[in-house]
Amino acid sequence: MEINFLSKMFLPFILPFLVAGAQASLANPEQIHISWTENEHEMKITWSVFLETECKLWYRPTLCSDTSTDFAFKHIKSQHTKFDEGTWVNRFVFIHTAVLTNLRDDCFYEYYIENHISTSDTYIFSGQTPQSFDNYGNSNNPVKVIIFGDLGTGPHGNLTYQYLQADAVSRNFSAVFHMGDIAYNLESNDGEVGDEFLNMIQSTAAIIPYMTLPGNHENDQNMLHYRMRFNMPKNNIDPDGLFYSLNIGPAHFVFLNTEIYFDYYNYPYDEEDYQRLWLINDLTDANAHRNERPWIIVMTHHPLYCSYDFFRHSVERNIVCGADTWFFRDKFEDIFYEQGVDMFLAGHLHTYERMGPIYKNNTVKSERDDLNLHLNPQATVYMIDGNGGSVIGHNAELSTTPHLWNLYSSNDFGYGRMTVFNKTHLFFEQFSAAQEKVTDTLWLIKTRNRF
Ligand SMILES: *[C@@H]1O[C@H](CO)[C@@H](O)[C@H](O)[C@H]1NC(C)=O
Ligand SMILES: *[C@@H]1O[C@H](CO)[C@@H](O)[C@H](O)[C@H]1NC(C)=O
Ligand SMILES: *[C@@H]1O[C@H](CO)[C@@H](O)[C@H](O)[C@H]1NC(C)=O
Ligand SMILES: *[C@@H]1O[C@H](CO)[C@@H](O)[C@H](O)[C@H]1NC(C)=O
Ligand SMILES: [Fe+2]
Repeated sequence: MEINFLSKMFLPFILPFLVAGAQASLANPEQIHISWTENEHEMKITWSVFLETECKLWYRPTLCSDTSTDFAFKHIKSQHTKFDEGTWVNRFVFIHTAVLTNLRDDCFYEYYIENHISTSDTYIFSGQTPQSFDNYGNSNNPVKVIIFGDLGTGPHGNLTYQYLQADAVSRNFSAVFHMGDIAYNLESNDGEVGDEFLNMIQSTAAIIPYMTLPGNHENDQNMLHYRMRFNMPKNNIDPDGLFYSLNIGPAHFVFLNTEIYFDYYNYPYDEEDYQRLWLINDLTDANAHRNERPWIIVMTHHPLYCSYDFFRHSVERNIVCGADTWFFRDKFEDIFYEQGVDMFLAGHLHTYERMGPIYKNNTVKSERDDLNLHLNPQATVYMIDGNGGSVIGHNAELSTTPHLWNLYSSNDFGYGRMTVFNKTHLFFEQFSAAQEKVTDTLWLIKTRNRF
């Protein structure tokens, strides 16, 4: 019998309860989530099982445009890694991954996971991967993603999640982007909080790619839980997938890791500026394809700009909107400006704030600026969307003296929806779970490349 998931000291108390039913639930594939990979037309499926079992991923194409397709279920075996989730007691879990390759854009894929004791529910995802949107700027196939940061379990996270999930299913979003601070924390209660979170999001993450970047709450043990549980695309500079980029139709999305610049993270490579050099190369390359793919959107956990009343609030908050932002502006702002990044989003502040196009702390005029529209912006538009639902709650009061570049702020829990319609039109809206409605919108329209 497999009992090594329990600390040996608890064994005498637990053994009598280890009946067959308990075994079956320990063998359940759980925390199922999918993500795009660094390769074209692939989907990675990740899940956990608390017993060491051999798992098969059964899958088949369905709803394809061409009915001569072979619709029979086939299977592949997963790879698994034994992981001790526990900080204080041993909690061994077996994290499985399997990658489906050569996916077809015109099909959906059904799949389920089976081991010799247990079988998961069946899930379905779209065979469209980032490359599938490459008829650049076809409004019939817009890129639609959900974006937010700072989402955990508990009543706040759950509130947002109820809406997010309904949206993800009914409105055909292509991906979810979670900009760090995940579960509060993945390692808490010997990893139980991470398990609970991944089970909470399973109804979305098992059917829509759940793409992440790390926040400060992932910092424990050099982001061990983050690296074990999320499997983001890798690149030759960062084999851990802690920063990466994706070309999706007319947009280039960059996921950065601001946490490596803080002392608590012991970056395993030569120097912190590895990422910065990677970013410059990545954006230079993106700019070489700017006509086909005009939009560049960068996300991190820590912001470069946020409004804050320095004299009203705690030292910690002052640092977040003060020293920290100045540090990151120094590192990144000129790169964003020179490389013509259209939009920058971050979390960390548990709030939603939409700013105008900014450079060096000043608003930069566009060809036309309305309250909810910029035509041909001349600098990066900055946003904070960090109110997914932290367990800590609202801890970022809105500024009573917002900066001139602040255009809208809100403290409601919720998330953003971005639609890149085509090469010229990008639309963003903020959905408030608290008010059950869209509370802010933004059109970015580009008729030419400024930068
Ligand atoms: C979230 O809330 C719903 C409805 O109140 C409840 O049924 C569900 O169990 C909660 N889920 C979590 C993960 O807390
Ligand atoms: C979502 O996709 C399905 C299958 O392609 C389609 O039938 C449905 O109309 C789409 N729903 C929306 C809201 O676009
Ligand atoms: C940025 O601009 C605001 C006015 O909007 C000003 O109060 C503030 O001191 C400036 N900060 C820096 C770092 O220059
Ligand atoms: C791009 O999308 C916008 C918004 O849907 C639409 O108004 C515009 O006509 C589209 N442009 C092209 C060239 O399809
Ligand atoms: Fe944070």
